[in-house]
Amino acid sequence: MIDQRERGVDVGQWASGGQIERDLVLTDADFARIRELIYQRAGIVLAEHKREMVYSRLAKRLRHHGITRFTDYLSRLERQPDAKEWEAFTNALTTNLTAFFREAHHFPLLAEHIKKQQSPVTIWCSAASTGEEPYSIAMTLLETLGPKATQAKVIATDIDTDALSKARAGIYPLEQVRKLEEGRVKRFFQKGTGGHAGLARVRPEVSSLVEFLPLNLLAPQWSVKGPFDAVFCRNIMIYFDKDTQAKILKRFAPLMKPDALLFAGHSENFSYISDAFKLRGQTVYTLAKK
Ligand SMILES: C[S@@+](CC[C@H](N)C(=O)[O-])C[C@H]1O[C@@H](n2cnc3c(N)ncnc32)[C@H](O)[C@@H]1O
Repeated sequence: MIDQRERGVDVGQWASGGQIERDLVLTDADFARIRELIYQRAGIVLAEHKREMVYSRLAKRLRHHGITRFTDYLSRLERQPDAKEWEAFTNALTTNLTAFFREAHHFPLLAEHIKKQQSPVTIWCSAASTGEEPYSIAMTLLETLGPKATQAKVIATDIDTDALSKARAGIYPLEQVRKLEEGRVKRFFQKGTGGHAGLARVRPEVSSLVEFLPLNLLAPQWSVKGPFDAVFCRNIMIYFDKDTQAKILKRFAPLMKPDALLFAGHSENFSYISDAFKLRGQTVYTLAKK
């Protein structure tokens, strides 16, 4: 007799077209294994209640490979530590929620900070997702520095290579872009026409300031080199445990100029995690020792 736990969950059995989908078996043991693997790979701590999300996102990968049991998919992954599928596995389990000028109070602070800098400004956006955040930084550079902004650079990194592809394309639904101030929309976006109606693309003057690179914050080596005038690390630490957060903060410090700013997400507090940084304003930090 198979008990409920061994049988696994049975979510999403009905496709939107009303057809019965193939049964994919996700047991408690599979879910525990997925949580451990994504923790090892990306540092992401997946909560218990994320089971349905995990099922629906990874189900696509199983179907792609014609596999019906999560255990077989996971065993295949584990047998090949360098398999390309690891990238798809990781991409499937990241959360990419973002927006242009999210946490808007950070951008005037950034503007004020970069006005004071002499040398070409370099900023690292360390969890850049689909590009809205690094492009908002680039727009702030252009608004603040004018033609001198061409000497500035935004290094935008993320673990999720699908998100980075979208970011590099720089094309967004017009309704998302319309939430920005009208002046910014006019100055920084080109509206699509014909087959691209309903879309807007960031103008080359913005995108040319940003370089997108894959980077796992957990990797033993980071491909970015400081020193940076500002580091954005927003809405990613919440997915990590305290130990991982502390390790990452410790690695940020030597990559920052003495007066550099570190921007955190709205629900993140670095004060209790690292003594390398001190709070300078609402979710903005500076190095504790200059
Ligand atoms: C919720 S989004 C936040 C995006 C943006 N920083 C913002 O605040 O709007 C979190 C991003 O962190 C990325 N991420 C997750 N684990 C990561 C890791 N280990 N290294 C680098 N980026 C990671 C995800 O792919 C995702 O794009």
